[in-house]
Amino acid sequence: MDLHQIDLFAKEMIREAGRRIRQSFSYDMVVETKSDPNDLVTNIDRETELFFIEQIKAFDANHRILGEEGMGEKITSLEGPVWIIDPIDGTMNFIKQHRHFMISVGFYVDGVGKLGYIFDVMREDLFYAIAGEGAWYNDSPLRKLKNLSISEAVIGINASWVVPNRRVNHEKMIDLVKTVRGTRSYGSAAMEIAFVVSGKLDAYISMRLAPWDIAGGIIIAKEVGAITTNLKGQQFDLLSTDTFIIANPCIHQLILDRYIEEN
Ligand code: IPD
Ligand code: CA
Ligand code: CA
Repeated sequence: MDLHQIDLFAKEMIREAGRRIRQSFSYDMVVETKSDPNDLVTNIDRETELFFIEQIKAFDANHRILGEEGMGEKITSLEGPVWIIDPIDGTMNFIKQHRHFMISVGFYVDGVGKLGYIFDVMREDLFYAIAGEGAWYNDSPLRKLKNLSISEAVIGINASWVVPNRRVNHEKMIDLVKTVRGTRSYGSAAMEIAFVVSGKLDAYISMRLAPWDIAGGIIIAKEVGAITTNLKGQQFDLLSTDTFIIANPCIHQLILDRYIEEN
């Protein structure tokens, strides 16, 4: 399998999907809800996922696709070549702000991450990695993350986890928020992961993410030395939803030990 050939194909496909999404602002967007009134999806999310499936199947019919909108095969194992795709990560931003949403793509072979992409559709910024070869932000190599202490860290976290909630001890989360230098919340998991791998954030924590939110990002993370696990410190299960943290290696274990207590 020629990973460089697949990488070229993936980049062209992602950029073309981005062009189509940008053009979609000129025609009507249909917004629907999924599991709850705040879980939004649009016709553009679905059309973009279909575009990815058509492109990948034309490239190699043996490749399988796990996409958020469920338009690929039913995937119950990661055997063989599998693409894990979120056609639009940050759909609420897409609908309301027309910015701050990403395409997230991971290419796996037998469950091992090979190629990872996070594309900021409006800025046309691409974060990507080829496993074992490095990671890039557009044409510039991404460097290994620098050492830092928890009091210097800027972390991505959603306010839902800092108010009383059923998933995590929120008082410990408040301690974390008070300890770090600053917090941010961007509304796109893939964007927050892209910011950690490029040193714009030092950690990002979520109590519930799906494989397509992180599949591209964890491949990029590995290349720059960022640690990705669930909140028990174990590998994220790419076939189900799970808790998630990506962090600079200097603060990953400390955050888990001192500030995270799942309810
Ligand atoms: C969502 C975003 C959001 C995160 C949610 C995800 P979607 O993805 O990444 O930041 O907090 O958990 O579901 O639905 O916009 O693709
Ligand atoms: Ca998502
Ligand atoms: Ca999505």
